[in-house]
Amino acid sequence: MPEAEFHADYEFLRSQQRLTYDEILRVADVAVGLGVSKLRLTGGEPLLDKNLAQLVTGLAALGGVDDLALTTNGMLLAPMAQRLADAGLHRVTVSLDSLDEQVFSRMSGGRGNLQTVLAGIDAAEQAGLTPIKINVVVQRGVNDHTIIELLDHFRGSGHIVRLIEFMDVGNRNGWRMDQVVPSRHLLDEVTLRWPLRRIDKNYPGEVARRYQYVDGQGEIGFISSVTEPFCGDCSRARLSADGVLYTCLFATHGTDLRESLRNNADEEELTDILSRIWLQRADRYSELRSPELAEAHMQRKVEMYRIGG
Ligand SMILES: C[S@@+](CC[C@H](N)C(=O)[O-])C[C@H]1O[C@@H](n2cnc3c(N)ncnc32)[C@H](O)[C@@H]1O
Repeated sequence: MPEAEFHADYEFLRSQQRLTYDEILRVADVAVGLGVSKLRLTGGEPLLDKNLAQLVTGLAALGGVDDLALTTNGMLLAPMAQRLADAGLHRVTVSLDSLDEQVFSRMSGGRGNLQTVLAGIDAAEQAGLTPIKINVVVQRGVNDHTIIELLDHFRGSGHIVRLIEFMDVGNRNGWRMDQVVPSRHLLDEVTLRWPLRRIDKNYPGEVARRYQYVDGQGEIGFISSVTEPFCGDCSRARLSADGVLYTCLFATHGTDLRESLRNNADEEELTDILSRIWLQRADRYSELRSPELAEAHMQRKVEMYRIGG
């Protein structure tokens, strides 16, 4: 969220505009009834919500959720990890783009603290929020020279580093194709240092291509959303804090569920709305990505801080 625009006086969503936990649980319950078995809390920064454990308790109580995860920048993780685990969270993914202090500081807008994030990862491990995934968005000329050091740090830790291609999400990150480091280049670089072996997907639609270090020091993943898009396999829907359901990370619009929720839509009606949205979805932005499409979507894509990656 660019500081110039989202300054201290910026008017963020009022609580009345945000879904209540009860409303989120109603949508999640219906989604689970339709076959969803994996839920992720993301953001924005989900740990800014001090009561989040309460929501986790509700989500964990829905029958049929095999995987309940959270993605965080890790800054507030250490003091909350145990509470979240006790509430029923299964695991966390922590975003950490570099272990170089200067690069980290630049990529976190000068506000993050590397040691605090590392302490958060340790606390999550102690709380059993495992397997922990470390999300690294690789940008050419920004952090690509620090990737081997980062992999070296986490090798043998049991944490799974995932190298993600920098994407043109939202309208504000000034994305250019030449900033993307293709996964196959990274794979070549990593393999020169440590031989890797390809391993199977955990489940259909998994976004990361998985590899193991041949010397047994763990797993790493590559997410090639730009050079090898996986729209055809996409099984994700995203619900924003203000109740809009999106079926694509690059969507220009979604469906407002808040109004239905507040007009007392019952389970049957919500099931009907969700299944209709799902059956009608036709988004495949990443597969169709082109300068013309980017132009057509210019300034209209939903921002990443609203739908969480
Ligand atoms: C938007 S964040 C939200 C959750 C939380 N605040 C965090 O930092 O992890 C979710 C994930 O999206 C990733 N991400 C953000 N911008 C991206 C981009 N342009 N391309 C690829 N991944 C991106 C982040 O690194 C993070 O792992």
